[in-house]
Amino acid sequence: MMRLAYLTPFLLLACCLQSASAQVTSQDFDKIMLYTLKNSNGLTIKVTNYGAIITSILVPDRDGEMGDIALGYDSVEDYTNAVDKPYFGAVVGRYGNRIAEGKFTIDGEDYTLAVNNGPNHLHGGVIGFDKVVWDAKPVGDNSLELTYVAKDMEEGYPGNLKCKVTYTLTDDNELKIHYEATTDKTTPVNLTQHTYFNLKGEGNGTILDHELMLNAKKFTPVDEGLIPTGQLVDVAGTPFDFTTAKPIGRDIEEADEQLNFGGGYDHNWVLDKGGKDGEMTLAARVSEPSSGRVLEVFTTEPGVQFYCGNFLDGRLTGKAGKPYVYRGGLCLETQHFPDSPNQPNFPSTLLEPGEKYDTTTVFRFSTE
Ligand code: BGC
Repeated sequence: MMRLAYLTPFLLLACCLQSASAQVTSQDFDKIMLYTLKNSNGLTIKVTNYGAIITSILVPDRDGEMGDIALGYDSVEDYTNAVDKPYFGAVVGRYGNRIAEGKFTIDGEDYTLAVNNGPNHLHGGVIGFDKVVWDAKPVGDNSLELTYVAKDMEEGYPGNLKCKVTYTLTDDNELKIHYEATTDKTTPVNLTQHTYFNLKGEGNGTILDHELMLNAKKFTPVDEGLIPTGQLVDVAGTPFDFTTAKPIGRDIEEADEQLNFGGGYDHNWVLDKGGKDGEMTLAARVSEPSSGRVLEVFTTEPGVQFYCGNFLDGRLTGKAGKPYVYRGGLCLETQHFPDSPNQPNFPSTLLEPGEKYDTTTVFRFSTE
């Protein structure tokens, strides 16, 4: 039987975070809790309602040895104080990934978002969904439901957006993430999960030896600010070809303009949906030879941002006290494509009043 094993206070943040938009108060911080999902095989996932962050994922290696494969922290202060705020484990939104210059137009109306990544908007702005306190409700014995209402014009986005993210840990060793949202004004929405995985265990070196398969024959190349050019380009014959599994480090140092812009892999791949738009398909498979751990990612989304921790530099120290080194974790952020609000050829990310945003991503853990 899966069960929600226990609730413990996560850590109260004494001071109060203020923003013109999200208005996170000390009372909100009083509500911060840490929840544990555990299945019958002993897989254990910890989630806090601060940022809907997955703080820990304990899974066995091929010998049954448990290891924590998610980068993160034990206390909420470590999240709020982290240099460069790398979004460890968080749900990012209202728009995960970049929007060029934080600008877009809907029905002739211009909107300007908070700009927090050079000239561009990234992961929902200065106080995105990763930095607010969600309401949490355990559902049944294996799910946690997190809700957050983003206000009209919060970080510059139109419409009150009611969001619900449900984490479910199954006895098949799957973590299912169900995202839902409704709005009262047309708005772009792109929610994703920003866990950094290291299948050797958090803090145990780089992920360059992990073998990755991406179910994608095309990717969306970017400019130097990591904004898509609008093209969909074949990966064949480039370092971006992961259609057959290969070690992440194999081609990463090749002289290539796109690798140069990303400082490594930090791009959106266009998933081969085989005509199954909106259906759950395999997006990625990662395996790590020494532990035998395997992660498979399934999603209803059309894209996945594969980011290999190019901005980690050893300054952040994780749960076991080990530094998170350069390329010490990888993210597989299932999503719509970056900058979609300004890219007429990309699938639309606009949610209209009366519609429901409804996407699902599954992380399946196994060994080989
Ligand atoms: C982005 C990176 C960014 C990182 C933040 C990723 O989703 O693609 O460019 O630096 O998030 O940690």
